[in-house]
Amino acid sequence: MPENKLPVVILTHTLPEGWISSLKDRCKLYIGPQDATKLDPSLLKMLPQAEGLFTLLTIPVTQAILDQSPKLRVISNMAVGVDNIDITACTRRKIPVGNTPGVLTESTADLTMALMLSIARNITQAQRDAQDGRWKTWSPAGWLGTELNGSTIGIIGMGKIGKAVANRAIAFGMKVLFTDPEIKDYPNALQVSFWEVLKKSDFVTLHAPLTEETRKLINNEAFSLMKPNAILINAARGSLIDTDALFNALKYHHIRAAALDVTDPEPLPSTHPLFSLPNCLIVPHIGSATEHTRQQMAALACKNLLAGLVGQMLPHCVNPEVYPLNS
Ligand code: GLV
Repeated sequence: MPENKLPVVILTHTLPEGWISSLKDRCKLYIGPQDATKLDPSLLKMLPQAEGLFTLLTIPVTQAILDQSPKLRVISNMAVGVDNIDITACTRRKIPVGNTPGVLTESTADLTMALMLSIARNITQAQRDAQDGRWKTWSPAGWLGTELNGSTIGIIGMGKIGKAVANRAIAFGMKVLFTDPEIKDYPNALQVSFWEVLKKSDFVTLHAPLTEETRKLINNEAFSLMKPNAILINAARGSLIDTDALFNALKYHHIRAAALDVTDPEPLPSTHPLFSLPNCLIVPHIGSATEHTRQQMAALACKNLLAGLVGQMLPHCVNPEVYPLNS
């Protein structure tokens, strides 16, 4: 197809060329900078012509963006979570929205275990102490942590990632509790209420999507029910936790510790008080950050985008009701 006939597609961020090679020759790409935290002004200008939008989870896709994009026919989010997108507004406009489920399950579950092990065994503090000359001898009572084996883990949200975490936790000898509005059974795991998860777990790990119902799910009331030795893990979305309540719970030792891959706000400014707490481990949203997973996420996002551009059903569509047979 001659270049001027190719559909205009906005790619909100610069990605490695090999990840998006399938888009070459199939669309006219307008690409934003690598670390964009909002839609670049050069791309905003292209919205009136854009037929496709390939975006990352850091870019809010709002009604205002849609209003400026009369030709938009597909939105492809390179993420499993789509809380950055106003799905209701997209559905009203009959714009299918694609996401990338499945391919990041194992890497995110691995990172969840890495966070649990690191915080439970004081890995970052121990590394700093070794490096800074505080490793004087083998210390019988130094750097004492807590064990996964024999502990109870409570999984909030038993989707693909929650289940992958359950499998790992079982292999580590943990007792697994979970709560989920849809999943009732899982082998070697016990379904309990949300409140029971909070009351009974030594580790509470969040794997629920962010929705209006789950926003600030872990708040002052939740912290008041958790065990004083509980460790909270979040590799889902920062806004599942009330950040001020978390700060108080950690500072006043209502819970033992937290390990976060995601925060509210995100990114968390380096001056944020949470960084001053020794019982809080924070990493910069790296749950799916393996070469293999990120390539697969990009490949799936490209497939969704290309399908939408030619009017086919997206392989992974979060609002299938946009298609006549599903409405
Ligand atoms: C990552 O957080 C994702 O939603 O894919």
